[in-house]
Amino acid sequence: MAKHFGGAVALHGIDLTIEQGEVHCLVGENGAGKSTLGKVIAGVHRPDAGQLILRGEPVDFRSPRASIAAGIAFIAQELAIVPDRSVIENVFLGQAGRALDLVPRRRLRAKYDALAAKAGFDVDPAAPAGSLRLADQQKVEILRSLARDADLIIMDEPTASLAGSDADQLLRIIDDLRSEGRTVVFVTHFLADALAVADRITVLKDGRLVRSSPADGETADGLVESMLGRSLGSMFPDRLDSPPVTADPALEVTGLSRDGEFHDVDLKVRRGEVVGIAGLVGAGRTELVETLVGLRRPRAGNVTVAGHSGPFRSPRHAQQAGLVMVPESRKDHGLVLGRTVRENVTLPHLASVSRLSFVSKARQTDVLGELLPQVGLDPARIDSLVGELSGGNQQKVMFARWLLERPTALIADEPTRGVDVGARAGLYELLRSVADEGAGVLIVSSDNEELVGLADRVLVMRTGRVVGELVGDEIDEDHLLQLMFAEEAREESA
Ligand SMILES: Nc1ncnc2c1ncn2[C@@H]1O[C@H](COP(=O)(O)OP(=O)(O)OP(=O)(O)O)[C@@H](O)[C@H]1O
Ligand SMILES: [Mg+2]
Repeated sequence: MAKHFGGAVALHGIDLTIEQGEVHCLVGENGAGKSTLGKVIAGVHRPDAGQLILRGEPVDFRSPRASIAAGIAFIAQELAIVPDRSVIENVFLGQAGRALDLVPRRRLRAKYDALAAKAGFDVDPAAPAGSLRLADQQKVEILRSLARDADLIIMDEPTASLAGSDADQLLRIIDDLRSEGRTVVFVTHFLADALAVADRITVLKDGRLVRSSPADGETADGLVESMLGRSLGSMFPDRLDSPPVTADPALEVTGLSRDGEFHDVDLKVRRGEVVGIAGLVGAGRTELVETLVGLRRPRAGNVTVAGHSGPFRSPRHAQQAGLVMVPESRKDHGLVLGRTVRENVTLPHLASVSRLSFVSKARQTDVLGELLPQVGLDPARIDSLVGELSGGNQQKVMFARWLLERPTALIADEPTRGVDVGARAGLYELLRSVADEGAGVLIVSSDNEELVGLADRVLVMRTGRVVGELVGDEIDEDHLLQLMFAEEAREESA
């Protein structure tokens, strides 16, 4: 199978066999060609050369519809929901063709309930899909692929926006699909997940197949080495020996509340410090940080950034005070897909009073030439359209944008989702260096390993409140889980 886009070769003639009834994981660096391979199988892209053979018969899909008709379901890396339609409509979208309107509502609802129960997902079927949080939108996509009753299901990073228990739930669903004799192709950057669930693992690198072998014989280190072409030293930089208790606060929050979301939040991030926020999906973390940067208005409380008092009315105001955020998802925030990397990185800065708006293109190229490798992007792609980058590389563009002018305080919401392991280590290094240069860094993460490895201090949120703090050596997965899951009863008696 071969596929190129203009001058860029995404797949160089790959031979691969996927057995009926197996779970087959695809792993590889950002831009390795995983999504392209998935899209060729799903009829989204037509290959330049090569032959797709399905159950012994050569097939030539001219559209996604043709692949669906052949029993293939594809969950794209980019979300594909219709925002103003209900969850139930999204799940059964395109399924019965135009006849959907003719299916009695009650029957559809019963079908939905059965599907959701089987998957173990609890998503309100009547809600407009666009109003859901990202993790729930991802569940809608998973339910849709299950509703199609497909024989081969391709999942392109379905867990990138799912946290903890939901991600585990998805692994159980994959297991169930296998026991029903279905075939699953699973693309993931979580190598532990790949090792846990796969029968076979295929490693792609630069559009070529490195190897395809039984999961039994694979290890995380071995996979990393084949993906990157080198071994990876330690994933995390050293943390501070002791917390900088006397350093000035970069970001200070007092008594911040928003009805129904979070209550009376106090927090301080000092210059030089990396602070994490842990919690389950729904704990109020994203709502909190979106309020800090002016995307939502608090009912009460104060936000201060190195002498500038908020709360800030908009991200622009927050940015002028020195506070910026890399948002949770590249899927729906702020990247202009039809513009170049250069434009996307410099875009929000040109509007503000910025050094960079006055400099020449050549100087921009110099500045970006230094910054792009720091976030793990090839500087040769400076004038590529963002829409032509792989999913993980788009996330790195987001990072570059907010690090271009070193902020006083940087918030990163789930910063490494969808980013390959090599680049992830690079981003951790970068976040630490931003703190070393005197900024305060606040990270929201559902990946406890990431918080344990990176943060000097972790705050734990539950149902809209900060319920605990761990410092230095206290930060480990056991302590985090205890605080995240502590019983409501204990909270009341306290
Ligand atoms: N529509 C497109 N136009 C131009 N180039 C593209 C397009 N889609 C993908 N590419 C290029 O093809 C190569 C493979 O991309 P692909 O999306 O398959 O990577 P991936 O392995 O899925 O990466 P990630 O882990 O970041 O999702 C990349 O160099 C990418 O820039
Ligand atoms: Mg991809």
